[in-house]
Amino acid sequence: MSKNIIQIFDTTLRDGEQVPGCKLNKSQKIIIAEQLDLMGVDIIEAGFPVSSPGDYSSVSEVSKVVKNAAVCALSRSVEKDIEIAAKALKFAKSPRIHTGIGTSDFHIKFKFKSNRNSIIDRAIRAVKYAKKFVKDVEFYAEDAGRTDNKYLAKVCESVIKAGATVLNIPDTTGYCLPDEYGSKIKFLRENVRGIEKITISCHCHNDLGLATANSIQGIMNGAKQIECTVNGIGERAGNTALEEVVMIMKQHPSLKMDTNINTSMLYGVSQIVSDNMGIYTQPNKAIVGANAFAHSSGIHQDGVIKNRKTYEIIDPKDVGVTESAIVLTARSGRAALAYRAKNIGYELTKLQLDVIYTDFLKFADVNKEINDNDIHKIIESSYIYQELR
Ligand code: KIV
Ligand code: ZN
Repeated sequence: MSKNIIQIFDTTLRDGEQVPGCKLNKSQKIIIAEQLDLMGVDIIEAGFPVSSPGDYSSVSEVSKVVKNAAVCALSRSVEKDIEIAAKALKFAKSPRIHTGIGTSDFHIKFKFKSNRNSIIDRAIRAVKYAKKFVKDVEFYAEDAGRTDNKYLAKVCESVIKAGATVLNIPDTTGYCLPDEYGSKIKFLRENVRGIEKITISCHCHNDLGLATANSIQGIMNGAKQIECTVNGIGERAGNTALEEVVMIMKQHPSLKMDTNINTSMLYGVSQIVSDNMGIYTQPNKAIVGANAFAHSSGIHQDGVIKNRKTYEIIDPKDVGVTESAIVLTARSGRAALAYRAKNIGYELTKLQLDVIYTDFLKFADVNKEINDNDIHKIIESSYIYQELR
């Protein structure tokens, strides 16, 4: 049975860049956009052009270099924003304007001091105006996660009639439970006239650590696009991590879903983003963290040396990591020491290994991690190695 291709909408350069202190300059944005395009991202959200002249010019330059992906620019439901977004996208092969407005009562009452009907009018006007410039218009219902479903359905139906091609249902505050977010998507699919003609998109934030789970529930309930960032960076606790949703689809064939991403580029692109933004990825970050394929306890190391699949569900090469790491610490066993010693040229006999392992443990108890140089030193200074050599 053929797989359902889920569109990957990358917002590293827009929502991702909202991380405090991580501003990218134009050439950094171009480097990242080219990598995302090469990796197979379907849509690149390049920025929010009205926000600053620098952002305008980045969106314009990114539009010139991207070869395959659609390029998207953010706007509020404000005519000037939309005009400037359209101008910045002038050179894009496939331009998309992303416009929208807050739809939860919190936003309507406190942010806009407005009412539900007026918000729908503004949403319709924004979509119609954006359609004057581009065919592809994505509408975001900001804070859809906390928006009453019946009202959200009304908003969605109105913007589809106005010409929206993609409906973004953001869990802006990262509030929803996976089941709740999935049900919201299902409710919209079942209650919005015309929804079968457009693409539903998930845009989930990670305030409760649920962004990835919510996005997956979204696509399991009929959404066809996920908005995400490399390394999960973004406003506050971040966005859905691109590498996580992509690998979930790849590792779970029962979902019958896939993406156009070349997964062997995931690790490299993660490094490029973290170097350019100056944010270091936590070592235990799924898929791309330094420890994602590192094994340090003796029991796990013994298993992985016998067969990688005992403790790894992903082949590291599939995400661009050359190999699993057997990290030597005081928790490591003889199998790991013998394996690492062999990698640097020492075939230890059982007797040699027994003696050297005792020296190794003494060393490991006072040193956090043992590198290849340390192994050389431990082995070469052992009496047993000198005697039996
Ligand atoms: O989180 C959000 O609601 C957003 C919108 C602007 C799409 O980033
Ligand atoms: Zn967001």
